[in-house]
Amino acid sequence: MIAIDGPSASGKGTVAQLVARALGFHYLDSGALYRLVALAAARQGVDLDDADALAAVAAGLSARFEAGEVWLNGAQVTAAIRTEATSVASSRVAAVPGVRAALLDRQRAFRQPPGLVAEGRDMGSVVFPDARLKVFLTATPEARAERRYKQLNDKGIAANIRTLLLDLRARDARDEARAVAPLRAAPGARRLDTTDMTAMEAAQTVLSWMREASD
Ligand code: C5P
Repeated sequence: MIAIDGPSASGKGTVAQLVARALGFHYLDSGALYRLVALAAARQGVDLDDADALAAVAAGLSARFEAGEVWLNGAQVTAAIRTEATSVASSRVAAVPGVRAALLDRQRAFRQPPGLVAEGRDMGSVVFPDARLKVFLTATPEARAERRYKQLNDKGIAANIRTLLLDLRARDARDEARAVAPLRAAPGARRLDTTDMTAMEAAQTVLSWMREASD
């Protein structure tokens, strides 16, 4: 079990997928679950201030991950959960304790042989506290905004780098300040600053740490 946590656009997703592929492990993108709750809530007309209703949406979430695609109630939502609006809503939804509690077992169910690489904000601290290796990825906000800008550009989505930087800072602040499972390095987590690294270099570092942890 490898837990990779860090702020948005720190490279967690890419690095975790590279590591999972190299080891032949399963992969959990826990952020996608919070994004799905946010999207389901929006589609059901649930108010983002209604904590009980949001927890009910999370508990009843009918989602599927298949070959890189994400499905919600039988509809393909791979792109819909990645919009900036859903990003912002997902970090509000994630601050609701009932939502986090409802998603706990669903996340733990991904832990199957031969192993799991899980990425998010609280993988090492709350969901998989007994992970063999815990990694906390960081990068400067400017580097992260630049990465997000490039990702969106590659997909042909117009974006403004200053707006992205402001959104990232707002999401970081909310993720760090929330009462339940705030974003911070878990005890025993190894920190990796990826500002001047490629995703492949970061993945190689994590793989070398995994070899050390398994010795
Ligand atoms: O990782 P990603 O940016 O896709 O996550 C979307 C949102 O879900 C984050 O802004 C964060 O608020 C929340 N999240 C969380 N705990 C996790 C994963 C994501 O609170 N383990």
